[in-house]
Amino acid sequence: MLGVRLYGKYEGCNPTGSFKDRGMTVATTIAKALGARAVVVASTGNTAASASAYAARAGLKSFVLVPSGGVARGKLVQAIAYGAIVVEVEGFFDDALRAVLDAVERTRVLYPLNSFNPWRLEGQKTLAFEVVEQLGWKVPDWVVVPVGNAGNIYAIWKGFKELYIHGLIDSLPRMVGVQAEGASPLVKTWRKRARRLLEVEEPSTIASAIRIGRPVNWPKALRAIEESRGLLVEVSDEEIVHAMTLLARLEGLVVEPASAAPLAGAVKLVGQGVLGQGDVVVLVLTGHGLKDPDALAMLEAKKYSVPPREAARLLLELARSV
Ligand code: F0G
Repeated sequence: MLGVRLYGKYEGCNPTGSFKDRGMTVATTIAKALGARAVVVASTGNTAASASAYAARAGLKSFVLVPSGGVARGKLVQAIAYGAIVVEVEGFFDDALRAVLDAVERTRVLYPLNSFNPWRLEGQKTLAFEVVEQLGWKVPDWVVVPVGNAGNIYAIWKGFKELYIHGLIDSLPRMVGVQAEGASPLVKTWRKRARRLLEVEEPSTIASAIRIGRPVNWPKALRAIEESRGLLVEVSDEEIVHAMTLLARLEGLVVEPASAAPLAGAVKLVGQGVLGQGDVVVLVLTGHGLKDPDALAMLEAKKYSVPPREAARLLLELARSV
């Protein structure tokens, strides 16, 4: 349909339903080896779910700080189920992260598992290894990643670079970062070639996972874009919901809004002639759709309600249009 060869790397099948598990298993192992007793994260939800799951398995206490009212239902109940101590911060993700940074500076009791922890990124780079392996040791032309706190795009780029340095692949992909229009500090910074981050004070988008105004890893993400001759693009909430619908109804994949952003971005870039005919494009579909049932409920519904005796008749009537 788009003229490009489109692949989705679906991260919803990881143990807690998002790509975060790749890094969390490594960083929690390190926490345990260092003798930590408790871990802490600020999170828009997936990091909280993943950290608390791996902490539970490792016998560590977990503390998660989340923006109050800003986390998808599925993620919050996951963290609670894994036994995390949940602190709702009346503010944005960025406020929660600031509090975590402040607290870990003052105590050695809390081991931080946010993506400024380098072990997280070491785990997350394995996505690049799998993509290359699953494409039969071919390198995609483009890898499209949703960007929030901006660790993942750098981690994936690092993975490709390592394969290249070790002679396992002989070319590199170009990295595309996608942000939501209401939460696009990196797009703005990149466009203006600013030397400092152009923060977004009150980020707003349906894609709560990437509703972030001050991404901590912004210099690393910009480096990945620059080194790979990549680019950043922003998409509207409408485009995100449309992309969610396409993935669900053409591919049978439900993803959360942030994870649909790469498809929305790819559609836009095809329209602008940036992605060319026959290019191999990998979309990183970062998290499972069931994490955010309220967002799924926004997709256009084909739903009827009838008393039992009328159900068969309605079905026969509807079947006429098949
Ligand atoms: N997609 C999903 C589903 C996410 O949960 C996140 C980040 C991203 C994309 C962006 O990745 O931050 O490395 O640029 N979620 C974090 C969290 C912020 O707390 O779960 P990033």
